[in-house]
Amino acid sequence: MKNIAIVGATGAVGQEILRLLQHREFPVSRLRCFASSRSVGKIVHFKSEEIALEALDEHSLKETDLAFFAAGGTISREWIPRTKCLVVDSSSAFRESAPLIIPEINIHALNTHRGVVSSPNCAATILLMPLFPLHRQYKVKRIVASTFQAASGAGAHLMEELKKETEAFLESRPFSHSLPFPYAFNLFPHNSLLHPSGYVEEERKMLYETRKILEDPEIQVSATCVRVPVLRAHSIAANVEFHKPFSLEAIYKAWAQVPGLKIFEDRSMNRFATPFDATGKDEIFCGRLRIDPSQPNTLEFWAVGDQLLKGAALNAVQIAEQLLLFH
Ligand SMILES: NC(=O)c1ccc[n+]([C@@H]2O[C@H](COP(=O)([O-])OP(=O)(O)OC[C@H]3O[C@@H](n4cnc5c(N)ncnc54)[C@H](OP(=O)(O)O)[C@@H]3O)[C@@H](O)[C@H]2O)c1
Repeated sequence: MKNIAIVGATGAVGQEILRLLQHREFPVSRLRCFASSRSVGKIVHFKSEEIALEALDEHSLKETDLAFFAAGGTISREWIPRTKCLVVDSSSAFRESAPLIIPEINIHALNTHRGVVSSPNCAATILLMPLFPLHRQYKVKRIVASTFQAASGAGAHLMEELKKETEAFLESRPFSHSLPFPYAFNLFPHNSLLHPSGYVEEERKMLYETRKILEDPEIQVSATCVRVPVLRAHSIAANVEFHKPFSLEAIYKAWAQVPGLKIFEDRSMNRFATPFDATGKDEIFCGRLRIDPSQPNTLEFWAVGDQLLKGAALNAVQIAEQLLLFH
């Protein structure tokens, strides 16, 4: 039994971590929950306990064995270097320097940790779960991916805003949105930091995190990330060129053996996974396999996953479960 902390316990990811610790019977002796000063004193529920939210200070994590950080990169950068406990960080703050783990793919890299383990970007996770068994067999050369990302990927506030804006739109009421354009019934290219290359940070993460997790610096990735007015669960259309030839049959076979992956398609009904199908589910749903006739050894597929779960909270809790086995 361990003393556990969640930093960002009121957020979209933090709330799911809290739920999963209970649901997966994580061995918690004492749980402390942290949020911003706005939330101090509010209550969250864990099993039969009521836990009062606290603000972080120098002493907060002294008796903690393992802390989940889900409060954004700034908080991670400020507080993680000051903590002595094990940390699983959902932000991108330490993804370059710390092991970046998807347990199904590269659990062996956990051995190199020095106290901090990072959980990857949500879109990268949803892309890589169906890709890694194929990379092992056919070696990925190049990926062209388009993402359709849900509001919750930007945090609890955008999810709430989308709900309220949609209601206002349907009732023809004015709504002052935080974005420089309407979001309800609209979509927009991902608004993370724009790099001089023309790619935004989210798209660059898909490149760097794919290379790091698949341990292949030669893989080329060109991504276009788009935020759509979906509440929860990201979708990805991927076009992947391999070094070696493959058959669709072999890919279905490989996917069927991967824990955490679910083939979702009914071709007779032209029915493939949607964000509603994936919402609240642990697995990444994939299918709609096609051979791209325009170039050799190239596959098209569709993947959908609840990015708050496998793309964030579930992956973080799975990492923590593995860390506890080592300590
Ligand atoms: N959302 C996703 O799908 C997703 C996926 C992968 C990774 N991530 C990463 O996970 C992290 C959390 O994302 P999120 O979507 O859960 O964000 P969020 O919904 O905006 O939640 C942010 C959390 O941080 C807390 N917080 C803010 N300032 C704080 C402070 N000074 N001290 C302690 N806590 C503070 C907030 O508390 P208050 O409620 O008091 O403001 C809230 O609990 C981010 O780094 C994000 O990049 C998110």
